Amino acid sequence: MKPAVRCWGVIPAAGLGTRMEASRPKQYLEIGGRSLLQHSLDALLAITAVEMVVVALGAEETPPAWLDDSRVRLTAGGARRADSVLAALRVLQEIAHEEDWVLVHDAARPCLLPADGERLVSRVLGSGVGALLAEPVVDTVKRVDASGRVLETLDRSQLWRAQTPQMFRLGELAAALENALRSGIAITDEASAMEQAGHPVAVVQGASRNLKVTVPQDLALAAFYLGEPITG
Ligand code: CTP
Ligand code: MG
Repeated sequence: MKPAVRCWGVIPAAGLGTRMEASRPKQYLEIGGRSLLQHSLDALLAITAVEMVVVALGAEETPPAWLDDSRVRLTAGGARRADSVLAALRVLQEIAHEEDWVLVHDAARPCLLPADGERLVSRVLGSGVGALLAEPVVDTVKRVDASGRVLETLDRSQLWRAQTPQMFRLGELAAALENALRSGIAITDEASAMEQAGHPVAVVQGASRNLKVTVPQDLALAAFYLGEPITG
């Protein structure tokens, strides 16, 4: 009998947070006494189907004590986000099946509601098609040249902002990321590697509270959504 397909998590947390301009990588900034990484990890672990999460840390980082958890494995990330995700997938490939599903979630998205993750999981398991949380674009969107001149107004009815988690099969995702890295095409999420590899990818509507903390003012917004103060 074929073993049941399982779900695993990956958190790339090896970035430098350059745009955040803080004294340490943004995943270690704290809201309500817990780091952004801890909030993101807890949200991912709260999704019922997720058995275990592999966290890719910066090679120089000393793992914080709270990461010592039976449902968490650690590995060293790499220079680009895709390198960090691949390093974590390698750890999973030691213990999981190629057909198993993996939810990749940014350490910098601390406001994920587990209920949105649950909807993603049930949609993917129900359809067999990999998917990501995403949000329809609400603004009018302009394409602009380097001098600041508007070239055109895009049709926003087909535009979505990609979020995480992004959920794909372990074997297919690892192969797609490897191919994308080998071909030298810049990819900023798992879905774009899967698209390039010719796999179907679906969107599942997420919430705007699932922002990626990227620039300094995002921290206050994340604290607002979490209902807790910035503590460090
Ligand atoms: N990430 C990673 N390894 C890298 C680069 C990024 O694990 N080499 C992780 C970040 O830690 C973050 C997520 O990927 O959780 C999303 O990336 P991004 O928001 O771009 O974070 P940073 O790369 O850290 O920030 P910046 O681009 O501003 O330097
Ligand atoms: Mg980055």
